[in-house]
Amino acid sequence: MIKFALINEKGGSGKTTLNVNLASYFALFKNQRVLIVDMDPQGQSGKSLGIDVRNLDATVYELLTGEARTGEVIQQTRIESLFIIPSNKSLANLPYKIVDDPDRDVKLRKVLSRLKNFDMVFIDSPPSLGVISFNVMTAANKIIVPVSLNYLSLDGTAEIMDTVERLKKANHLKDVEFFMLIPTMYRRTRLASEIISTLQKHFPQLVSRHHISLDVKIDEAQSHGLTIWEYAPRSRGANMIKEVAEEIWEKIKS
Ligand SMILES: Nc1ncnc2c1ncn2[C@@H]1O[C@H](COP(=O)(O)OP(=O)(O)O)[C@@H](O)[C@H]1O
Ligand SMILES: [Mg+2]
Repeated sequence: MIKFALINEKGGSGKTTLNVNLASYFALFKNQRVLIVDMDPQGQSGKSLGIDVRNLDATVYELLTGEARTGEVIQQTRIESLFIIPSNKSLANLPYKIVDDPDRDVKLRKVLSRLKNFDMVFIDSPPSLGVISFNVMTAANKIIVPVSLNYLSLDGTAEIMDTVERLKKANHLKDVEFFMLIPTMYRRTRLASEIISTLQKHFPQLVSRHHISLDVKIDEAQSHGLTIWEYAPRSRGANMIKEVAEEIWEKIKS
């Protein structure tokens, strides 16, 4: 079971968009049984799949606090072989609830290690650094960082790498690795090209060959609660995400 996590403490870097559309791509086109885990209290992975997350009482929060079991929180989505553990704003209480728990940074890791019947897991993360994102980092074995090409993205990327290294050491984890940096929100500007070349210089094995430009269809799909494959499968946006998905597929097969 491959556990991908999309992390970047900056909001608006494309985490949720990629999380939902990559997970659904592998479920729809690669015959994978895929589970999305939403670790953002905004609950947008669920919303992006058309799920009303506001009034759920079995979410990732209840799973992590031991009030519910996996079977009670995993929901089938519209897409066959795509499942989700949704979240909503109750997740914002998690840091207070587990503050004294010595295992507080590895709660999600423990829960996911008991899951057997999925090929892939995609974990979405909040736009902040703290116990929730630490749980995402330690639960994953392949970390994907969407890097939006506008401002300070290099600083942010280096910081994420430091944080993950620190958590790996503190919790004696060997199986957590950086898998890919995906340039997002690309515009044809000199700044964007400069950031891409600097990323390539610093992280030559990690930067994806394909990047994601802006396409309004991606935004529209999300606002309709649909994946890009359902809303605009022939759009430029769908094509860009498909290229990145195929690159990920190639990399895990090699
Ligand atoms: N390639 C893109 N083109 C146009 N809009 C996009 C693109 N990627 C993301 N968006 C939109 O930008 C907003 C932020 O993206 P999102 O994936 O939610 O970022 P994050 O989860 O990192 O905060 C959303 O409204 C989303 O629909
Ligand atoms: Mg998000």
